[in-house]
Amino acid sequence: MQFDNKIGSIQQILTATNVGILRRQAILKELNLKKGQTIIDIGCGGGHLVEEISMCVGYMGKAIGVDPSEFQIKTAKERCKNLSNVQFICSNANDINVEINSCDAVTFTQTLEYIDDVDEALCSAKRLQKPMSIFVNVSTLWDFFGFHGPEKKLNDMMHEIYRSQKHRMLPTKLNGKLEKQGYKNIKTLEIPFFITNKDENSFPKYHEILMINAAIKKGVSQDLIQKWQDQLQESEKKGSFAFTVISVLTSAFSK
Ligand SMILES: C[S@@+](CC[C@H](N)C(=O)[O-])C[C@H]1O[C@@H](n2cnc3c(N)ncnc32)[C@H](O)[C@@H]1O
Repeated sequence: MQFDNKIGSIQQILTATNVGILRRQAILKELNLKKGQTIIDIGCGGGHLVEEISMCVGYMGKAIGVDPSEFQIKTAKERCKNLSNVQFICSNANDINVEINSCDAVTFTQTLEYIDDVDEALCSAKRLQKPMSIFVNVSTLWDFFGFHGPEKKLNDMMHEIYRSQKHRMLPTKLNGKLEKQGYKNIKTLEIPFFITNKDENSFPKYHEILMINAAIKKGVSQDLIQKWQDQLQESEKKGSFAFTVISVLTSAFSK
């Protein structure tokens, strides 16, 4: 998936919703940041987490954001324009021009599941870490993501089109991948959400928009899309609507 302009803008709104905020709070708690540290956020998107990290590590520290999308990096730079301890790099996870063994933590949010070669990305990230420094990842269990309410066949079709992530159930495989890279003290924490409405600024509302975009691109008829939307609305009115998403925070220490 390309996170440019339209998709990138909606993704940044999703990150700003309560779901995005609660995920970042969990990441920041796990990172347990100290003044003066250097932290790298790979796949930083619009820079929400980088901004928060920069405040935590203070002017003697450094928050580095990396993303291959020029659109995301441009927006992230704009968000952090008044912060002196921030650096943004437009690059892939496998090709980051940062000194080896220089980071006190490396973090990914909803990024590893989009990367072709996760093992290569983990290996590259680990090289940037100081010994005994923390790795924190948040990824979604995409098989459990979605809306409940519309009729099953139509609903399943809309979800299947949307699940374009390369690694839909990454958290179920990540511990083994981290062990292979030599990480220790691997822990997981589930971050579940169960939402029963989709008001204007909600996480489900913006996923609905992205799902409709994906369906249009795949050539699904306007009639079917409208039917799905109507059924969503109807189920919400009847009180039989739900949106569920389970994210998993995985942390580990480099040797
Ligand atoms: C779902 S967004 C998450 C953005 C941000 N971490 C957040 O939570 O708001 C995924 C991000 O991963 C970036 N990305 C995709 N492929 C990547 C790669 N190979 N290396 C690093 N980042 C990548 C995308 O450009 C996009 O900004």
